[in-house]
Amino acid sequence: MNKHVVLYKKLSAPLMERLEAQAQVTLIDDPKGPDGIARLRDALPQADGLLGASLKLDAQLLDLAPKLKAVSSVSVGVDNYDIDYLTSRGILLTNTPDVLTETTADTGFALIMATARRVVELASMVRDGQWTQNLGAKHFGTDVHGKKLGIIGMGRIGEAVARRGHFGFGMPVIYHSHSRKPAVEARFNAQYRSLEALLQEADFVCLTLPLTAETEGLIGAEQFAQMRPETIFINIARGKVVDEQALIHALQNKQIRAAGLDVFEREPIAADSPLLKLDNVVATPHMGSATHETREAMASCAVDNLLSALAGERPANLVNEELWNR
Ligand code: DGY
Repeated sequence: MNKHVVLYKKLSAPLMERLEAQAQVTLIDDPKGPDGIARLRDALPQADGLLGASLKLDAQLLDLAPKLKAVSSVSVGVDNYDIDYLTSRGILLTNTPDVLTETTADTGFALIMATARRVVELASMVRDGQWTQNLGAKHFGTDVHGKKLGIIGMGRIGEAVARRGHFGFGMPVIYHSHSRKPAVEARFNAQYRSLEALLQEADFVCLTLPLTAETEGLIGAEQFAQMRPETIFINIARGKVVDEQALIHALQNKQIRAAGLDVFEREPIAADSPLLKLDNVVATPHMGSATHETREAMASCAVDNLLSALAGERPANLVNEELWNR
């Protein structure tokens, strides 16, 4: 057992057992806690592999790990990593796609339903003892079924959202993506649109694209101005794809109807954010993949990826593939 793994996320007992059967493990279960980063810094010089999530691992930190062979992220998004830096050092980066696709798409639909039908606002009214008469028009929501669903980013999660919209809710689907997806167009009768056309046409604008240098700040004041007062904006991608100030302005000025947000520029969002004061915002705590089953499947996938990488085998979910083809 000559490999050393530094875990910066707690694993279930069976997964911990699987990992410990193959490697010596140091667990830093609260890397964002008071002494978390100091403990991580102390452990990095021994690390052959790293496994965890939701922590920015920059070059300054990883320079402390001269033996590092692989970083296994328990996430599909890899915006917490400097991929060029890892690749230049020959460090494999792996992620956990597929296993979270359906659950994250469910979250997207939860936000679509909650915003359109004002579920959170009306449920709070009942809980607060304010349901004193039959609902009148000022509490009505808007339909979801049959409305036009616009998806920006047509990867696995975008496709799963499209499937739900098309088959489950009879929604015409339009999408914008860096490339056309003929299979998605055929399966869900989805139509490709320019970004501008999608923003103008869609009743629901749903972001499912990754955060990259190209997508950062993609949706700002100009884009919100292209939406309609009926538009409902959903973000299950990453907060930084959106200019949050512009979103707040659009909501406060009724440029759009509502927003369902699972991700934010800064997470956790500040308790005094203006977003949290708006009745037409449903904000959830980056819970896209947060079910027992899916989080366990993601962690299991991450353990498999790491063990393969440390055994010198090609991991199933290699992000910097060029390292394998060198
Ligand atoms: C992912 O897997 O990227 C989810 O957003 C959780 O971070």
